[in-house]
Amino acid sequence: MAPARWFPAPACALLLLLLPLARAATPAKSPSSSSSSAVFQLNGDVYPTGHYYVTMNIGDPAKPYFLDIDTGSDLTWLQCDAPCQSCNKVPHPLYKPTKNKLVPCAASICTTLHSAQSPNKKCAVPQQCDYQIKYTDSASSLGVLVTDNFTLPLRNSSSVRPSFTFGCGYDQQVGKNGVVQATTDGLLGLGKGSVSLVSQLKVLGITKNVLGHCLSTNGGGFLFFGDNVVPTSRATWVPMVRSTSGNYYSPGSGTLYFDRRSLGVKPMEVVFDSGSTYTYFAAQPYQATVSALKAGLSKSLQQVSDPSLPLCWKGQKVFKSVSDVKNDFKSLFLSFVKNSVLEIPPENYLIVTKNGNACLGILDGSAAKLTFNIIGDITMQDQLIIYDNERGQLGWIRGSCSRSTKSIMSSFP
Ligand SMILES: *[C@@H]1O[C@H](CO)[C@@H](O)[C@H](O)[C@H]1NC(C)=O
Ligand SMILES: *[C@@H]1O[C@H](CO)[C@@H](O)[C@H](O)[C@H]1NC(C)=O
Repeated sequence: MAPARWFPAPACALLLLLLPLARAATPAKSPSSSSSSAVFQLNGDVYPTGHYYVTMNIGDPAKPYFLDIDTGSDLTWLQCDAPCQSCNKVPHPLYKPTKNKLVPCAASICTTLHSAQSPNKKCAVPQQCDYQIKYTDSASSLGVLVTDNFTLPLRNSSSVRPSFTFGCGYDQQVGKNGVVQATTDGLLGLGKGSVSLVSQLKVLGITKNVLGHCLSTNGGGFLFFGDNVVPTSRATWVPMVRSTSGNYYSPGSGTLYFDRRSLGVKPMEVVFDSGSTYTYFAAQPYQATVSALKAGLSKSLQQVSDPSLPLCWKGQKVFKSVSDVKNDFKSLFLSFVKNSVLEIPPENYLIVTKNGNACLGILDGSAAKLTFNIIGDITMQDQLIIYDNERGQLGWIRGSCSRSTKSIMSSFP
C-alpha cells in the first residue's frame, strides 16, 4: 500500500500553485453558454487496484493511456520515452514526444511553474521547460512539459481534439513501499491550479471549470467536466475554503459523529482527494474513530492481522463483500457549515480483502506523516462528487455509480 500515493507533499505543493498563466498566451474564446460537457468512463477500484483511472487518447495518431484521476494535484504527466531514465513497467508503450511538442522555457506556463519553486528554478536550455513533482509518499516525477492533442468525448456523442500541456516524465521514483509494476501510465491532474486539465479546458472555452466523479463500489464509474451535467438542486453544497494545507479542494472543517453521537474531537479540516485510495484522519480523530468502532462491535467479530491494512476483523464465516459485514458497523458523519452533512456509512470506510476479512479503510494520517485529513476514494464511492470552481463550492449526491453513464445521468436529475 502506498499511502496518499499521488498527493503532493506540502513543500512541493507550492510548485503547483501556478496561477495566472496560459490565459495570456492562449486567447480565450468567450466562455459562453455554448460550453459543453465531457464524460469519461472510469476503470479501477479501491481494492485490490487501489485507484480509479480514465483511458485518454493522446497524440497524433491518438494512442491510449491509463491515467489515475487525482483531484489532489494539478499537473498531468505520463511516463515518457524522452528517452526514459527511470520508468516503471506501465500498461502501454511509453509516450514518445517529438521536438515540436516541447513547451519552450519562455512560455508563460513554464515561467509560472518555475517562479513557484524556491529557489527559483531556471531552464537548463531555452527549448524546454523542466518540472519536478514530489508526492507525500515520496514518490516523484521529473520531466519536461509538452503540448499535444487528446480526444475529449463530449456528452452529445461527438468529440473534439483540443491540445493541452502536460508533463513528459522521464524519471519516476516510487515511494519506499511503492510497486514497480504500475497499473497506470501516468496521472491526470484535476486540482484547482491553472495547469490542471479542467482549468486548461476552461481557458480554451470548451467546458466550464467544473468537474465531478462517481466512483462505484463495484469498480468503474465515470468522470465529467462541465456544468450542464450537474443536478445542482439535489446536491448538498458546501463552500470551498482556502485550505490551510495547500491549494486543495476543501469543504472546511467538519465535526465528527459516530452513530449520531459527537466523538468530542475538535472540528477537523478535510480535503477531497481522488488520488488517495483510502481516507486519512489525524491522530486524535483516528483514535476516537477506532475506539468508537471497537466499542460497538459484536462479539462475533475478532481482530485479525491481514497484510492489506493495519486494522482488520474476521467473522465466523469468510466475508465475500462489505454487504456481509456492514450491519455490524455504524455510520460516521462529518457535519460542515449550514448543517451540510457528509454521511460515511460502513461501505465508505470498510473493504473486504482476498482473505475474507473486513478492514478499516480510514488510516492514521500521522503514521503517513500527513498534517491534514484526506477524504479518499473509499469515502467518495457511490456518490456524485462535484467540484465547482466557477461558484467555489463542493457538492455531493448519494446514488449508485455502477450503472451505465447514461442511466446514471438520468438518475441524478
Ligand atoms: C456537440 O456539442 C458541440 C459543442 O457544444 C457542438 O459543436 C457539436 O456540434 C455538437 N454535436 C452534435 C452531434 O450535436
Ligand atoms: C490540436 O490542437 C490544436 C490547438 O487546440 C488545434 O489547432 C488542432 O487542430 C488540433 N489537432 C487536431 C488533429 O485536432
